[in-house]
Amino acid sequence: MPDQTLMLRYPRIHDLVPRARRRIPGFAWGYLSHGQGRERLLDGNISAFDRIRLGQNVLHDQGTPDPAMDFLGQRHAFPFGIAPVGLTSMMWPGGERLLARVASETGIPMALSCVANARLEDIAPLATNGLWFQIYALEDPEARRDLVRRAGAAGVKTLVLTVDVPVTSRRELASISGLPPRGRLTPRMIAQSLRCPEWGLRSLRRGRPDFINFRPYVAEGASFSELGDYAARNLGRRVTPQEIEEIRALWPCKLILKGVLSREDARRALDLGADALWVSNHGARQNDAVLPSLDALAEIRDELPETPLILDSGVRSGLDVLRALRMGADFVFLGRSWFYGLGAIGPRGAQHVADILAAELVHAMRQLGIPDLGRETLDRVDLFTSAPSP
Ligand SMILES: Cc1cc2nc3c(=O)[nH]c(=O)nc-3n(C[C@H](O)[C@H](O)[C@H](O)COP(=O)(O)O)c2cc1C
Repeated sequence: MPDQTLMLRYPRIHDLVPRARRRIPGFAWGYLSHGQGRERLLDGNISAFDRIRLGQNVLHDQGTPDPAMDFLGQRHAFPFGIAPVGLTSMMWPGGERLLARVASETGIPMALSCVANARLEDIAPLATNGLWFQIYALEDPEARRDLVRRAGAAGVKTLVLTVDVPVTSRRELASISGLPPRGRLTPRMIAQSLRCPEWGLRSLRRGRPDFINFRPYVAEGASFSELGDYAARNLGRRVTPQEIEEIRALWPCKLILKGVLSREDARRALDLGADALWVSNHGARQNDAVLPSLDALAEIRDELPETPLILDSGVRSGLDVLRALRMGADFVFLGRSWFYGLGAIGPRGAQHVADILAAELVHAMRQLGIPDLGRETLDRVDLFTSAPSP
């Protein structure tokens, strides 16, 4: 049952942001919230949703709206999930476990990032709706293959290969906020942490987050910075078609390519064996000039009417979820929003985000007269685009 006190106080994801910002140290907040360059795309992702207007048809017997969704052979209680977010425990200590529990209790998928701060093998059993695992194509070929094997051994059925980080990211505002390259601890970080007591105490209890999923690939007893150096050497590189083919050959279950924004990449990804595509600009974190994901989705849906498509980047409400589905997405993920909940409220915060999204989605379905989220039903909803309201 949604917590009504929280719902009255924070009825929208938007309402969580100011408090989360106060309770997460500046360096971690900078890493979580910022985009790239002048950050025009951060706003662009969001205003792309604001332009979508939906037709309302209330003069029919709608029954009880059903927000469940079948996707890639599985039924989910809602058509939204938890996107992979690296350094999860830096933004909220123990975030991986908290999010896995929310995914299980809500009946939605969670994708664990390979650069999260909990072991894949420890989180998989907690996500009873099926954990998805997100990998990058590491430079180290043995480790690359081993991550795929470990995902299978842990019971993962959906592997997400992120392809949109061909070079190390330039996160200018994250470094201005105090996050040094490779996360070495600075006096400024300590000072920022002291201003956030709940975060600080939880961090002390949990220990410093590191790239724990890469531990098997470095010497036993390697230090925090040696592990960081390994990650830096292996990430931020272009994945080759041969590597995608190799992963495809090793992986017998669903394979999703994440970070596809063009018709050309979409076709290539399918030729290389992807089962589904994840249309994403990485939450505006890679390049400020690319298309808002929602606009890219329209292009790709037009090119590939039948391909399963996921959308993320800029989704901030249940109504946005519905807009994305109407625009052709089959499933929708959110990244930052879960941490706005954790930061603002603590351990119960991510569940509150799920509750907000569910309530907003069902409310919008009722208001617009949409009984279910099947493609035929969605296609009957009138679609208008307009300039964003001032
Ligand atoms: C702090 C942060 C870390 C991220 N780390 C990863 C990652 O490790 N792997 C990945 O594929 N995407 C990563 N992403 C991108 C998200 O999976 C997702 O595409 C993005 O957050 C969606 O945009 P939204 O935050 O506007 O919902 C990260 C995003 C954020 C905000």
